Amino acid sequence: MSRVGVLVGVGVGPGDPELLTLKAVRELREADRVFVPETATSAGGAGRAETVVAAHVAPERLVRLGFAMGDAGERDARWDAAGAAIAEVVRGGGTAAFATLGDPSVYSTFAYIVHTVRALAPAVTVRAVPGITAMQDLAARTGAMLAEGTDSVALVPWTAGEARVRAALDTFETVVIYKGGRQLPRLLDVVREAGREQEASVGTHLGLEGEVVSTAPGLAAGPAPYFCTVLVTPERGGTARGARLRDTEGSRA
Ligand SMILES: C[S@@+](CC[C@H](N)C(=O)[O-])C[C@H]1O[C@@H](n2cnc3c(N)ncnc32)[C@H](O)[C@@H]1O
Repeated sequence: MSRVGVLVGVGVGPGDPELLTLKAVRELREADRVFVPETATSAGGAGRAETVVAAHVAPERLVRLGFAMGDAGERDARWDAAGAAIAEVVRGGGTAAFATLGDPSVYSTFAYIVHTVRALAPAVTVRAVPGITAMQDLAARTGAMLAEGTDSVALVPWTAGEARVRAALDTFETVVIYKGGRQLPRLLDVVREAGREQEASVGTHLGLEGEVVSTAPGLAAGPAPYFCTVLVTPERGGTARGARLRDTEGSRA
């Protein structure tokens, strides 16, 4: 019986090649093929994940995959084609790496790739290498703390709807909003209406060409590209050190 290979989702971080982990670099170097999404704006061009991994992978081991976000029929056809290309490698006993921006478990195409490849090659071994997310990068760049003490953090895609974002802003100390760049003015209105504008920062194309990071006051006003993250963290300037720790037995820092 022939050996079925491995599919490994490799998180390559938000864009800065220095935010690639040592483990990610090793997996990319050892894989038989490294699959990367090609850019959505000019089919056939190097996508952002490819730009990050290019220094570590010989071009002949890189394979570009086209994906579609709009029409459901086209999106399914692209997932099928990508899954078939990867399944061919693993059916031959090889290791296929799928490089994805940020972390493979956070809103990544990797989820759909795993689903498709498992249907075609059920014995495939699936692994993932965690990556640094855009929200962590934005927190680092703005000096914000994502969570202290008893703080809770919500990660909400703008595409889940305004009501979901509003509820998170009313409930959680820290709120991260993904996938809202193209409607950034409306998104920032919602943040303002929740009375949290002064706590917000916006990062666009973090670690990539054209990066913009802005904090209140003077947050970016116009629409932004898809790769845009909004971070809202509680104002902590006036609180004493450790004020967000609840002083009860069994609490953890
Ligand atoms: C499909 S999700 C991918 C998330 C990614 N897997 C992660 O772990 O960060 C795409 C969203 O992630 C955020 N994002 C990812 N990379 C980014 C970057 N370099 N700069 C700003 N936002 C980014 C944006 O909100 C974008 O709309």
